[in-house]
Amino acid sequence: LLHGAPQRAAPWWRFERERLLALAEKNTPRYVYHLPTVRERARQLSAIDAIDRRYYAIKANPHPAILRELVAEGFGLECVSQGELERVFDALPELAAERVLFTPSFAPIDEYRTAFERGVTVTVDNVELLRNWPEAFRGRALWLRVDLGYGDGHHEKVSTGGKEAKFGLPAQRVDEFVDLARSLGIAITGLHAHLGSGIDNGGHWKAMLDELAGFARRIGSVDTIDIGGGLPIPYRADEEAFDLDAWAEGLAEMKHLHPAFKLAIEPGRFLVAEAGVLLAHATQVVEKDGVRRVGLDAGMNALIRPALYDAWHDIANLSRLDDTDEAMFDIVGPICESSDLFGKDRRLPRATAPGDTMLVADAGAYGSSMASEYNLRALPAEDIVE
Ligand code: LLP
Repeated sequence: LLHGAPQRAAPWWRFERERLLALAEKNTPRYVYHLPTVRERARQLSAIDAIDRRYYAIKANPHPAILRELVAEGFGLECVSQGELERVFDALPELAAERVLFTPSFAPIDEYRTAFERGVTVTVDNVELLRNWPEAFRGRALWLRVDLGYGDGHHEKVSTGGKEAKFGLPAQRVDEFVDLARSLGIAITGLHAHLGSGIDNGGHWKAMLDELAGFARRIGSVDTIDIGGGLPIPYRADEEAFDLDAWAEGLAEMKHLHPAFKLAIEPGRFLVAEAGVLLAHATQVVEKDGVRRVGLDAGMNALIRPALYDAWHDIANLSRLDDTDEAMFDIVGPICESSDLFGKDRRLPRATAPGDTMLVADAGAYGSSMASEYNLRALPAEDIVE
């Protein structure tokens, strides 16, 4: 009898090797996004009955084809800047404003004004906004982002709750906010919390929902509770997938206790991370003091997650996918920083050579959206695979 989690399916790119090799011939670095994978993830979330509204946090990947795909799957879109709002309405001019959230952090007040003009749902997360610009908020319906006092996530840099984090109104100031809002004729129609990104403790959302429902009941006017994003994906080939069924069960249990509220979520990574790969060509293979390094024409400017969070991405040599004679390599980029390192002590074909097409997996979330032109290296190209 075999125990443990069922084997995960092989990633899509193993079946699209020829297509990817052809795309890489155009030029590299290039991101390639596989829409069927986005659709599959969207449908996994859509199948969860306890969730009433689904939003996609577009900061993970604002490619217009991805936005259109997710909207077609019934998702709304969550934006954090004026630029993201513009992207959404450029890509989807007919999109109803009710399907868009604006959840900024320390944004200039004019961005809030623009969001109200567009008719999207605005979330605020401090008292000072209302104090300093009462005229901007008077008489509006608002969502309120609460800091429940703790955060979580795959790295301390992506935890968004607790004293060290800049996000959210602390629980002990909710009454103060509610009083001020009342005096301005503001209706608080939604409560929001997002504790961080890449959280593998599946029970946390259920606890959040419970806590937020407590606040919502006190406030009275709330109809929607948004428990944020933060769903993880398995970045390592040997890692188990997040237990979505257990997660959904927990939410259903809570929903049963708090039937008065619509439940909303706003994941980013879960929907798009596995759908994206970064393609690069090997530039040089060098041995120094016993360490073999393969250089890519993509650097930390193209994908900053390893440098910024020590994040793991599987790396493959697409030109020699079936080679079984392997050796250990560090995989580096062409940027003049020692943190320009995609992976250390990785197994790759021993024959890996300049010109090989290399693939960095699970790069669909926070890849191109965080890319820069550091060292005056061009931004990666992007392709969609249907
Ligand atoms: N909602 C809010 C308010 C957020 O701030 C975020 C992400 C999300 C939803 C979506 O979170 P997700 O489901 O993708 O975890 N650059 C980091 C992740 C930063 C996430 C920022 N906020 C990374 O590459 O791991």
